[in-house]
Amino acid sequence: MNRKYRKTVIAGNWKMNKTPSETKEFMTQLKAILPKGRWCDVALCVPAVCIPAAVRAMRETRVGIGAENCNANASGAYTGEIATNMLVDAGCKYVIIGHSERRAMGETDADVNAKVLAALNAGLTPIMCCGESLEQRQSGITTEWITMQIKLGLAGVPEDKIRKVIIAYEPIWAIGTGKTATAEQAQEIHAYIRTILREKFGAAADETPILYGGSCKPSNAPELFAKEDVDGGLIGGAALKAADFLAIGKGFPQK
Ligand code: 13P
Repeated sequence: MNRKYRKTVIAGNWKMNKTPSETKEFMTQLKAILPKGRWCDVALCVPAVCIPAAVRAMRETRVGIGAENCNANASGAYTGEIATNMLVDAGCKYVIIGHSERRAMGETDADVNAKVLAALNAGLTPIMCCGESLEQRQSGITTEWITMQIKLGLAGVPEDKIRKVIIAYEPIWAIGTGKTATAEQAQEIHAYIRTILREKFGAAADETPILYGGSCKPSNAPELFAKEDVDGGLIGGAALKAADFLAIGKGFPQK
């Protein structure tokens, strides 16, 4: 299926950067340079305390605000955690789930799965991350690893909900390292992920955006986004500057 039938998306992941005041400043700059016409979907996932400022600033714009994590439980004794309905009430549209930096802190595929289901139930768009380490790539187990992350992470997702999921392929060796996967390496894994999704969800999987993440910047985005199965980017470092972030979105071939 041609990718014009699915959304193209640029999503920012601020990680543990920026205060609420800095968020306000960033959003003012972003608003000033947002393209007016038809464009890709734009999401910005920010630290929890920055969500109110981001939502307030981006009301009535094309930019959807998201969180960087959530808890799968509806409520209760989970000190420091944030439930999906709280994110919805705060104005979030997206939530990143299973980022490798959170997996490194102990998040398992079962946790990721529970969060994906909770996010979908609440009406949020989960951006579910997957990706191999350098060691796994060098051992030749990249596809096995990705298959496991996708299948376990999406277990129990109903067929009609897969369109609401965004997958982000983020090879760990490319995150924050300046070492981007080549467009060919990204396309190979994205196409592979699409095959797994098709086996599991049928034709609906063709509508699931698969984003690339890992040292994506304005200079390499056009080559990556030109690939059939690369539907956008999950951007870390380059999403901290409004102009760089939007310049990445300009990398899409016109739809
Ligand atoms: P960088 O763009 O800084 O490599 O980070 C990618 C990432 O982890 C996005 O989630």
